[in-house]
Amino acid sequence: MGYSDTYARWQADPEAFWLKAAEAVDWVKAPEQALYDRGDHIYEWFCDAQVNTCYNAVDRHVEAGRGDQVAIIYDSPITGRKSKTTYAELQTQVAAVAGGLAERGVTKGDRVIIYMPMVTEALVAMLAVTRIGAIHSVVFGGFAANELAVRIDDCAPKAIIAGSCGIEPGRVVDYKPLLDGAIDLAAHKPDFCVIFQREEKPADLIEGRDVDWQVMQNTAAPAPCVPVRGDDPAYILYTSGTTGAPKGVVRPTAGHIVALQWTMKNIYNVDPGDVFWAASDVGWVVGHSYICYGPLFAGCTTIVFEGKPVGTPDASTFWRVIAEHNVKSFFTAPTAIRAVKREDPKGELAAAHDLSNLCALFLAGERADPDTIEWAQKLLDKPVLDHWWQTETGYSIAANPLGMEEMPVKIGSPSVAMPGYDVQILGEDGHPVADGELGAIAVKLPLPPGTLPTLWNAPERFKTSYLNAFPGYYETGDAGMKDADGYLYIMARTDDVINVAGHRLSTGAMEEVLAGHPDVAECAVIGVSDSLKGQMPIGFLCLNSGTNRDAADIVAEEVALMREKIGPVAAFKQAVVVNRLPKTRSGKILRGTMVKIADSEDFKMPATIDDPAILDEIREALQTLGYAKT
Ligand code: COA
Ligand code: AMP
Repeated sequence: MGYSDTYARWQADPEAFWLKAAEAVDWVKAPEQALYDRGDHIYEWFCDAQVNTCYNAVDRHVEAGRGDQVAIIYDSPITGRKSKTTYAELQTQVAAVAGGLAERGVTKGDRVIIYMPMVTEALVAMLAVTRIGAIHSVVFGGFAANELAVRIDDCAPKAIIAGSCGIEPGRVVDYKPLLDGAIDLAAHKPDFCVIFQREEKPADLIEGRDVDWQVMQNTAAPAPCVPVRGDDPAYILYTSGTTGAPKGVVRPTAGHIVALQWTMKNIYNVDPGDVFWAASDVGWVVGHSYICYGPLFAGCTTIVFEGKPVGTPDASTFWRVIAEHNVKSFFTAPTAIRAVKREDPKGELAAAHDLSNLCALFLAGERADPDTIEWAQKLLDKPVLDHWWQTETGYSIAANPLGMEEMPVKIGSPSVAMPGYDVQILGEDGHPVADGELGAIAVKLPLPPGTLPTLWNAPERFKTSYLNAFPGYYETGDAGMKDADGYLYIMARTDDVINVAGHRLSTGAMEEVLAGHPDVAECAVIGVSDSLKGQMPIGFLCLNSGTNRDAADIVAEEVALMREKIGPVAAFKQAVVVNRLPKTRSGKILRGTMVKIADSEDFKMPATIDDPAILDEIREALQTLGYAKT
């Protein structure tokens, strides 16, 4: 069935559509009802079902005779190591780790934080937690101790599973001191930590608190899969919002399995046994959905890649991995392709590799610029398909559904709304605007299965962040437009979120860090356009009166502070000292205008600006950093 017919089938009866999709899941108790309307625009799916995530990702494939098939390929150009884990081996490992957690008191509904680099064991840890009905929260390795501490206090984990270190080009990132520092900072203390020791840098364990992963795995009795209710959370994943405190996106168990399994064939066109590769990190939603769960629910082989698009060892790495492991569908962020293109503009390194098994390249995580898409199309001679989604949804809102029907590609558009999503472009009055007009992108409620039903510990914030702006709709936080064929164009965020190298970051959180400097009276952070990373953060600092220290020293201290408080992932390297910030008469900082000046774009002088002359100072300050060229 093609796209239009499938979308129409969903529109005609959404509940029947998802109950049909639910037939692909192995239930302990199958759902009889799909949607639950809790009132006040709150919805849940499949609440009467009983199911286990890990069983659907691992055990059922072994029981169906796929035990000898490779489930996970670990390919680490950064360490020079590779390994393969079959579904049967994965089942044994996961059951043992789950048993070790259970023996130490982790039980259904408990939270477990996972702070791991890109190794097979990161997936084993996630699956082990869901096996016993507990809830994981994976924290990206590029975050600092402080960010980890915030998450520890918010989800109050019974245990933390961490690697001893991660490896970045040219340096080993010691996770253990970060973990210990975070536990010191946090008010909540986990009962125990499980440390996966890596050869590159084993860590000293704390007697009585830390357990060695290998010892635990070798000694634990295997744990069975524990059924949970369909609406019980499978995981919490923190993501950036407007303020400093990250939002704990809750992923409901049953909807997650139903929806991801559905996407694997319909969007990515992969079947059981195919190799699917998402070059992302388990710390991000792409890693949850398409390194771990989606491919495993579908009985595919997934790849855990520990490396970078360039420099490990060079820009041929992606093509080598695709050829060597027979990848059928490949998914990465546009920034990664831009990095490859910059190193190998003619794509000569790809020519040495047999990419004939590759069917398509999928891009997401940030706006895919036309140059990058065209370059990849020419190089690969395969469909290059942009698709748009968010941590909150867990899978695409708009995509080109290759497995259903390859739609014509319109460069600059992630194509069309997927079944489950009634996407509308709304004006400030909350009414849909005409085709081709810009507005806030919103999705008519209810959202489909697997999307967030709430925020962890923050039901009110869920409403204020997503539901209150446009009653009856979910506010995506993105602005854009729709054309007459229903193709969407995602243009910008409507909030203070920026996207740096495919990583979602909050300028609000960065401003909180800058404001903590004793010499800084006021500050602002904006995201300026960057040809490689999409956006880069820049800080503006107004110093306390009487401060006569060297501005360069204060900037350097702020850069170091950001790395210490948020982490290297913030990629915060540039700041300038200015006398004042441009504001409206009511005191709101005109960040949007500052971005336009930085990007050398035309802008309309805001009618409410307090003092237009400040903009000249901002322009001059930006010019010292190489921005605002005209
Ligand atoms: N653990 C510790 N540090 C990490 C890290 C991790 N898991 N991931 C990134 N960092 C560090 C980097 O080492 C870098 O540190 P530095 O300031 O000392 O150089 C810093 O965080 C910024 O990283 P990044 O923004 O990724 O820049 P980069 O120069 O290292 O790499 C790209 C640039 C484009 C190659 C890289 O960002 C990339 O591959 N991006 C794709 C992102 C992606 O897949 N996103 C997921 C959405 S699909
Ligand atoms: P994250 O939650 O980290 O996945 O980030 C989600 C945000 O990234 C979205 O709200 C968009 O702002 C941006 N984004 C993701 N995919 C795309 C895309 N294909 N095109 C444009 N922006 C995107």
